Amino acid sequence: MTPVPPLGDDLLRGKAYTGDGVTVYYDAPRCVHVANCVRGLPEVFRPRERPWIQLWNEADAGQVAQVVRTCPTGALHYALANGQAEAPEVPTTITPVPDGPLAMRGDLRIQTQGGEQREVRAALCRCGASGNKPFCDGTHAKISWKSGGATSPEVRGDDEHGEGQRADGAGQEGDRR
Ligand code: SF4
Ligand code: FES
Repeated sequence: MTPVPPLGDDLLRGKAYTGDGVTVYYDAPRCVHVANCVRGLPEVFRPRERPWIQLWNEADAGQVAQVVRTCPTGALHYALANGQAEAPEVPTTITPVPDGPLAMRGDLRIQTQGGEQREVRAALCRCGASGNKPFCDGTHAKISWKSGGATSPEVRGDDEHGEGQRADGAGQEGDRR
């Protein structure tokens, strides 16, 4: 098998939140629902407080990294003080989320308006209405876009915090904490 090259700093975009042994990066426009991070470490990911990521609250760096890896959209990434980067999943998977985006995991090269981006997790728009193409920005939920098929909660952006609302509690426009 061909070795996967390390991703290094390629994944680290958005606002940085630094804690003991780990820095979490939050790329707000790519956060489309409130779920995995908040459920995984509610003492750290606190959408009703500011800052909404509180790394001083109990969790160790490994726990934080583990929960960040559950973020299906790639809105969250991390840098560990020991330098260990997130490895892409093998094989690459593409999962159509009912009434939502294509959820992808793997060693991804995504063509964006700003050039090619390397990624390990991403949610790509398939409703055609995202304002952050090729990424999903949660608009599918606001416009009640239907893909057909069975219902799945992953990356739908329609949980109890409101359709398409981000984990940090902000709307889809402005407010980049
Ligand atoms: S998309 Fe947003 S709410 Fe969902 S896990 Fe990632 S950061 Fe958390
Ligand atoms: S699929 Fe989410 S905005 Fe298009």
